[in-house]
Amino acid sequence: MNRSCMPSRCANGSPRRATIPSFTIGLLLDSHQHDIAATLRESLEAEGQALDLYRQLLRPVEGKLVGLEEFARQMIQAKKVHAAEVDKMLRKPGEVASFAPRADQRRSTVPA
Ligand SMILES: [Fe+2]
Repeated sequence: MNRSCMPSRCANGSPRRATIPSFTIGLLLDSHQHDIAATLRESLEAEGQALDLYRQLLRPVEGKLVGLEEFARQMIQAKKVHAAEVDKMLRKPGEVASFAPRADQRRSTVPA
């Protein structure tokens, strides 16, 4: 049904309100630094935060809800792999030491 043939009243008799979603772009939450290293550091931080949140999800469902537990474990593994990949990209050529403390060894930013 196109907009021009929509009835002016809803099925319950109330006037139909225009529900056109806003196309406005919200506030951007990044640091507005656009060099590759800054972007990668931001990405590494985001992977760490996601890892914390999936660990937070895992605690209450572990041993109780198999599907959610499996999902949380898979996402934790994926976030660890992503963080390791970003960490590799942040190293200088030939460096083998980790750029940052491992995401799974750093202090959690999520309240327990
Ligand atoms: Fe990721």
